[in-house]
Amino acid sequence: MSEARIPLARPRVGEDEAEALRRVLESDVLSRGEALTGFEADLAALAGTRFGIGVNSGTSALQIALEALGIGAGDEVITVSYTFIGTLNAIVRCGAQPVLVDIDPSTSNIDPAQIEAAITERTRAILVVHLFGRPAPMDAIRSRVEGRQIAIVEDACEAIGARWQGRPVGGLGDAGTFGFYPNKPIATGEGGMITVNDAELQTRCRQLRNQGLDPVTGTRHPCRAGLSARLSELQAAVGRVQVRRLDASLTERARIAERYIERLGDHEGLELPAPAADGDTISWFTFPLRVSDRATRDRVRAALAKRGIEAGIYFEPAHRFPPYDRSSLRHSLHQTETIGHRGLALPLFPGLAEDDQDRVCDAVRAAV
Ligand SMILES: Cc1ncc(COP(=O)(O)O)c(C=O)c1O
Repeated sequence: MSEARIPLARPRVGEDEAEALRRVLESDVLSRGEALTGFEADLAALAGTRFGIGVNSGTSALQIALEALGIGAGDEVITVSYTFIGTLNAIVRCGAQPVLVDIDPSTSNIDPAQIEAAITERTRAILVVHLFGRPAPMDAIRSRVEGRQIAIVEDACEAIGARWQGRPVGGLGDAGTFGFYPNKPIATGEGGMITVNDAELQTRCRQLRNQGLDPVTGTRHPCRAGLSARLSELQAAVGRVQVRRLDASLTERARIAERYIERLGDHEGLELPAPAADGDTISWFTFPLRVSDRATRDRVRAALAKRGIEAGIYFEPAHRFPPYDRSSLRHSLHQTETIGHRGLALPLFPGLAEDDQDRVCDAVRAAV
């Protein structure tokens, strides 16, 4: 008898979401209504910012945040290659050049020590990714740009609810961004959010997400060609339900991660995620482990697939893809290169049964 498939991620949706959707459908307001303003306020509260601006994806959130900060052609944005490709796509889509720096192998996040050498007179922002829900070291990053006209934008798409030194991510720089793809703790199908404190920046983000229209008067803004990147009432209504469940969901995710660490921690062939830094809280988005090399990664993934278990390649570094190839690299990505072909993500989502998790662990052990 074949066993049930275990996906890498599974959104938890049920009657509450169905009820919220029904209410929106009966209201006749399918876009730009109360659900959106409510969801924006929810996310601002979560990130500890004054404003939230709902958009249609995490990548749109990044692109709009960068553009709203005035970043465009001729500008440089420092970020990492070890991330989801959307981080870099957003920089390039707003006309700027990504300048890739190496990661700290113990955290998989940007290594602040690499930032200084990457700064040029064109640097306009550091795009900090909180990868796999682990907060990046914001004080060390900020100290590198202090006194310069360089913005800090957080890619918190994988890190909703994570805390750096007790403070929520998404509110630690000039702009924060979140994503609500179905593999995320808040899963609206598609969707994203920008979180900011500055009122003018908020206005520019609102203009850019909606064709450049002025959000108050509805008139066309004369100097900004905007996108069509709105978040619908249906998505926002689902998001609001899930915000209410976020704490419980993150607690369950953390418990599952803990259990992986207990069950796989003693295996020689595996490198498991390090504990959070003192004062930080990880928001477990997936369970990222490392094996010894690419061949082992692919072999383990195939062995899991044979047993009905989905594992993800998180991440092949972005500079291995054609649009971001090596020709544009200026700095050593030694750690990224060393780690980038060894990462495998295991299933982690609320509702993952202990028996299923044991099946995953047994399969990993057998394959490694
Ligand atoms: C680190 C990171 N940045 C950006 C994004 C982009 O989000 P979206 O897929 O909603 O555009 C994601 C989504 O998976 C992500 O993991």
